[in-house]
Amino acid sequence: MKIKAGVVGLGFMGRRYVEFLQRLDGVEVTAICDIRKEIAENLAKTTGAQVLSRAEDLATSSDVDAVFVCTPEDRHVDAALAAIGAGKAVMIEKPVAHSLEAARSIAKAAKSGGSTVMVGHLLRFEPRWSAAKHAIQAGEIGEVVSIATRRVGNVLDQEILAGRTTIPLYYGVHDLDIVRWLADAEAVTIYASRRSGVLHQSGYEIHDLYCAILRFDNNVLATAELGWHVPAAALAAPTTGLTVVGTEGWLKVEQAATGLQYWSGSGQRSVHPVGDVTFWPEVHGVPGGALATELLHFLECVRTDMQPVITLADAIEALRLSLAMEASADRNEIIRLSEFGLIDSR
Ligand SMILES: NC(=O)c1ccc[n+]([C@@H]2O[C@H](COP(=O)([O-])OP(=O)(O)OC[C@H]3O[C@@H](n4cnc5c(N)ncnc54)[C@H](O)[C@@H]3O)[C@@H](O)[C@H]2O)c1
Repeated sequence: MKIKAGVVGLGFMGRRYVEFLQRLDGVEVTAICDIRKEIAENLAKTTGAQVLSRAEDLATSSDVDAVFVCTPEDRHVDAALAAIGAGKAVMIEKPVAHSLEAARSIAKAAKSGGSTVMVGHLLRFEPRWSAAKHAIQAGEIGEVVSIATRRVGNVLDQEILAGRTTIPLYYGVHDLDIVRWLADAEAVTIYASRRSGVLHQSGYEIHDLYCAILRFDNNVLATAELGWHVPAAALAAPTTGLTVVGTEGWLKVEQAATGLQYWSGSGQRSVHPVGDVTFWPEVHGVPGGALATELLHFLECVRTDMQPVITLADAIEALRLSLAMEASADRNEIIRLSEFGLIDSR
């Protein structure tokens, strides 16, 4: 029997979720919801999904088995709690929530209600990042010594985000989760410094760049360079990637090196100017890439009661590291993770 999916928040990610879920096997989109009702009504014309005006109504609909939360970061918690409260399985876009308190309330509700809850940490499902994990697990580069991750987006990201979130909450949760996953250890300290100026000039009261150093309890040292300052006219993807050096080798992911290059006369004034072939591509109309793999994994967990490969505890730790990165930059001091927003809901 097909899983009935309800999608809350129909912006950049939510629309992708609807498009993919409509065409993946074993699932159908039965309900959609956005506070901008016209967006939901337009999408309903092509999907046939029922439009519900509030996340709470979608959560309690008997025509929904699983709720997909794609609202802005600080709106995740209400939609997730409504869905868990109604006994539904829930997939939440990253970050799990905007605060540790909110994230813990989700974990507490999931534990008592027994709902399957997964957070969309997409990089764990991207073939190159996941191949890096498997190579490390297989001992192919020996003991990990250092990890460097870099994700520098384009100022044009603000055309959607409009300054509503921070680099730690938007990119930090992705990359600090990956660093922790690949280090296979817990962070002991983090120090971060940040700068601003470029985005202020574009009218957004947010920072441009954070540079962070993390030490893990197995002696792995990691750096993270996370920013939003690539000029509007330039490609951002070449400034993003990962390098891991071990005692017997190294591995490297260059996000832009997908193997596909083309130049189009329409110019390059876009955050994603090159056709995506890794995150959410379509091959002859069939959804593929990391997003399809991630959604199929979640649906399999719902069907079989399997534990998602990324747990809520992992997602909360990624959030805690990101908030610690912010706190370190705020105070200009090293943060000891043993003293920062301890997780009590694992
Ligand atoms: N995994 C990734 O690679 C990736 C990429 C981009 C965004 N994201 C995440 O996806 C989430 C959504 O980001 P986005 O870029 O799609 O944002 P967006 O602004 O494009 O879309 C958010 C939508 O939610 C709607 N909304 C707001 N509050 C609502 C509510 N209470 N109930 C129902 N609808 C509501 C808005 O009207 C909007 O249409 C964020 O958590 C973001 O961090 C993840």
